[in-house]
Amino acid sequence: EKEGYDHFMIKEINEQDAAIRNTLGEKDKIKDIVDEVKETINRVVFVACGTSYHASLTGKYLIESLVGIPTEVLLASEFKYSAKALNDQTLVIFISQSGETADTLKALDAANETSKTLAIVNVRGSSATRKADYVIQTQAGPEIGVAATKTYVSQLIAIYLFSALLADDADLLKRLEKVPDYIDEVLKKQGIIREISNNYKRDKDAFFIGRGFSYPIALEGALKLKEISYIHAEGYAAGELKHGPIALIDKNIPVVVVVPPGQDHNKIMSNLQEVKARGADVLGIGAIGDKDLIKESDNVFLINSEVDDILAPLVYIVPLQLLSYHVSVLRELDPDKPKNLAKCVTVE
Ligand code: BG6
Repeated sequence: EKEGYDHFMIKEINEQDAAIRNTLGEKDKIKDIVDEVKETINRVVFVACGTSYHASLTGKYLIESLVGIPTEVLLASEFKYSAKALNDQTLVIFISQSGETADTLKALDAANETSKTLAIVNVRGSSATRKADYVIQTQAGPEIGVAATKTYVSQLIAIYLFSALLADDADLLKRLEKVPDYIDEVLKKQGIIREISNNYKRDKDAFFIGRGFSYPIALEGALKLKEISYIHAEGYAAGELKHGPIALIDKNIPVVVVVPPGQDHNKIMSNLQEVKARGADVLGIGAIGDKDLIKESDNVFLINSEVDDILAPLVYIVPLQLLSYHVSVLRELDPDKPKNLAKCVTVE
């Protein structure tokens, strides 16, 4: 039931603090899995589709930067071309909300031939939970909206727990406990995004840019806008923009710039300047107190400054989900049932 909300999507966006809190409760079970695999693995491969693929990309940044184990991310539909390079020291992690996506299940069957497999899944008892050697159950509850929201942040928190436990990073584990509160703070200010959305409802194209941990945020923000608002949107690594797509930036093209505090802050600000110099309309997503960002952006949405680049994927995605929701509603579309998309795709 929608419980007073206009759509399931906005209800589910508003349930994300609880989804994360509940998935944090899986920590001890995740620790058991980490203890079993950590001695034997020298490589990690994530496999997923769609939004789950973007959660996987964040996993690569986390595992490589915290643990130093080489990690790659494969689209499930492209998995077979790399399957020969797996061995029994590779941990293959499958991320799937439904646990029934055909591309992902096909890859899981193939990976089981050579490697240990771990599935991070939201739907209980689904095929992926039965096929994988290890299972992490995200605790988002049923997700009805076709566009993944609360299951995405739940996948992310599961990956953060897994990575922090693998790295034995007590400080990060402690910081994760505050994430539901940070999300709650964003949700309390969601009216700001509703207002800002009016500026984007007539656009045909949009760019989302970020660096490092913000790059998958940009990709997921763009995917959401495509999926439910039918606006052509591209997520780009901010540093790569100058190697091609900057040719497309001109007056009034909206560029959403994801700028959390952290090591890449100044570099992303230079990229913001590059697009601004070409007349782009900049929506900055950054930290409270970031005076430069406030000055340079046409619109801003500001987040607790304790959320640095490492935690950003869990929190900075929320205003971007809200943006795509409100733009969809303003365009008189149905965000819960985007055309041509299904919640779960059971054909390859
Ligand atoms: C797509 C859905 O077809 O499948 C996306 O429309 C989703 O929203 C993707 O991210 C992957 O689904 P799952 O269930 O494997 O995470």
